[in-house]
Amino acid sequence: MEKFGICIIYLFLLLVLNKQLYSNAFSSSMMDEEALEEGHNNVEKSITDHGSDMWDLEDDEWQMVQKKGNQFVVNDQPFYVNGFNTYWLMVFAADESTRGKVTEVFKQASSVGMTVCRTWAFNDGQWKALQKSPSVYDEDVFKALDFVVSEAKKYKIRLILSLANNWEAYGGKAQYVKWGKDAGLNLTIDDDFFSHPTLRSYYKSHVKTVLNRVNTLTNITYKEDPTIFAWELMNEPRCTSDSTGDKLQDWIQEMAFHVKKIDPKHLVEVGLEGFYGPSTPQRLQFNPNTYAQQVGTDFIRNHQVLGVDFASVHMYADSWISTQIADTHLPFVKSWMEAHIEDAEKYLGMPVIFSEFGISSKDPGYNSTYRDTLINTVYSSILNSTKKGGSGAGSLLWQVFPEGTDNMDDGYAIVLSKSPSTSSIVSLQSYRLGLFNSLCSSKCQWSCKKKKMLDKILYHDEL
Ligand SMILES: *[C@@H]1O[C@H](CO)[C@@H](O)[C@H](O)[C@H]1NC(C)=O
Ligand SMILES: *[C@@H]1O[C@H](CO)[C@@H](O)[C@H](O)[C@H]1NC(C)=O
Ligand SMILES: *[C@@H]1O[C@H](CO)[C@@H](O)[C@H](O)[C@H]1NC(C)=O
Ligand SMILES: *[C@@H]1O[C@H](CO)[C@@H](O)[C@H](O)[C@H]1NC(C)=O
Repeated sequence: MEKFGICIIYLFLLLVLNKQLYSNAFSSSMMDEEALEEGHNNVEKSITDHGSDMWDLEDDEWQMVQKKGNQFVVNDQPFYVNGFNTYWLMVFAADESTRGKVTEVFKQASSVGMTVCRTWAFNDGQWKALQKSPSVYDEDVFKALDFVVSEAKKYKIRLILSLANNWEAYGGKAQYVKWGKDAGLNLTIDDDFFSHPTLRSYYKSHVKTVLNRVNTLTNITYKEDPTIFAWELMNEPRCTSDSTGDKLQDWIQEMAFHVKKIDPKHLVEVGLEGFYGPSTPQRLQFNPNTYAQQVGTDFIRNHQVLGVDFASVHMYADSWISTQIADTHLPFVKSWMEAHIEDAEKYLGMPVIFSEFGISSKDPGYNSTYRDTLINTVYSSILNSTKKGGSGAGSLLWQVFPEGTDNMDDGYAIVLSKSPSTSSIVSLQSYRLGLFNSLCSSKCQWSCKKKKMLDKILYHDEL
């Protein structure tokens, strides 16, 4: 109980601090204003009761994220995720003139209560490459990644680190194939990345190097660092040369095992977009289009691989259905989420994170009101699952940027300091998930005696 109480106090303190930084953040809901006031009073009272215990706990709390059934847990408390993507952190950290942007984005994200960031731990053979050629690393860039990891911890943000790219940005499988050709291999297509033994060994070597890296700023080996939430095998793997899915399945099996062998402590996910494939004909109806089943991925089968701890799903109605923003996008998002949450519960027994979703301001018909509606729809689906103790474990916005990084914007960037309405939606979601995280022990599941209180706080004002 002691610990339990302190958790709540800590949470409310964070919220109160947030409120001061982003005074607009909570204004959307009277209910939450009241809850905050109440929390504020509790904090003041309890700080005098408990003194500095709270800060000791804070350090204890920085443990590895683990998985229990279809939930994430930290220290036996649930860990529901409200987070974001910012892919370029390592590259920006590699240059002193832009390094401050890394700090800025963590600071802004944490001020709206976000706790997880997904970013790239690869840059193969390109400008400011981490891996200049197979197994040859730029130490300065590695130090930049060290900085990203140590800076994330300062803002209590955990990282999902992706280890390679399906696409050509930052190298990707095309770069591995180019390296193979340079070494005299007879390679014909980019998907040889998945099947050629030499290219597999290049990838495995990269994985080993990153996982065994000793952070030069903290002295903590990456594979021992609780700041890292999970390893992602690849950003959006697709293997269009084999629509049966066998080639990619085989690669996932080998690589998930490889990561776990080196680092049994961290969680692993694949990085998939979530398309249903040949193993589940009855689920194909949920795909955004008929092409999706032909890209060599298979949501259920791919996630049943030994060593894969949780599922990932991306959501881009604007690139999968129509660039023209349309209200039909919202029912797709709902059914896409519901279907994956249900599968994660029934067939996979694991949590699922909606690890990329967003909308481009370049889309015809775009407006920021629609963007807020989309985000609210996603957050509401997560809460609906959370409320039932389901597999919907969280979502990551694509993507959160600090000011002055417009040159990296693909249209999807959300600059929190310039988007008060979006910031308040994000804050509210963080607040709600934060309550679940602090009020329920994973052991007592949802029948815990705090449930009534949760219902009152969370669902008094339905979204
Ligand atoms: C290279 O591989 C292709 C496809 O596997 C094959 O058809 C071709 O004969 C090979 N070329 C050489 C020079 O081995
Ligand atoms: C890391 O280890 C080195 C060598 O043992 C030591 O000099 C340094 O103070 C340590 N740094 C930190 C941040 O612990
Ligand atoms: C925003 O865009 C949506 C979808 O295109 C549209 O239905 C809505 O009327 C627009 N709202 C405003 C305020 O322009
Ligand atoms: C969440 O559940 C409520 C109540 O059942 C429902 O009205 C709402 O549409 C659901 N939200 C989403 C996004 O599915």
